[in-house]
Amino acid sequence: MRTGWRWILLGAFALAAGAAQAAGDVAAGKLKKSMCEGCHGLEGYRTAYPKVYSVPRLGGQHPDYIVKALEAYKSGARSHPSMKGIAASLTAQDMEDLAAYYSSGAAK
Ligand code: HEC
Repeated sequence: MRTGWRWILLGAFALAAGAAQAAGDVAAGKLKKSMCEGCHGLEGYRTAYPKVYSVPRLGGQHPDYIVKALEAYKSGARSHPSMKGIAASLTAQDMEDLAAYYSSGAAK
């Protein structure tokens, strides 16, 4: 009986640790956003490559949407060339952190 409980507790700790790692961190996202703000967050900004695109606003966007969009660029499901290149360099944790930052209300 006693050893059984120990395994249940271990499992609970492992789950808690996993959840803490997956959750986005606003402060970490703020440090990582320097690679995004050249395009996102400038009022009315358009990229000129490969043609002229208006850049969507990320501030206030739902975090799950941001993560899903970044995963889609990385996998190729979404095919915008600039975003593909950027998303390819992001880890899952980077995506969560950036999503936390942009959805936090701190960003434009
Ligand atoms: C070179 C300019 C540029 C940079 C740098 C850039 N983006 Fe983008 N981003 C764009 C453009 C243009 C689009 C719209 C592309 C499209 O039509 O699919 C876009 C789209 C997105 C979308 C989808 C938005 C939506 O409403 O569907 C997300 C999320 C996103 N970018 C996040 C980021 C993050 C996070 C970074 C930094 C790691 C970043 N971008 C850096 C130009 C850029």
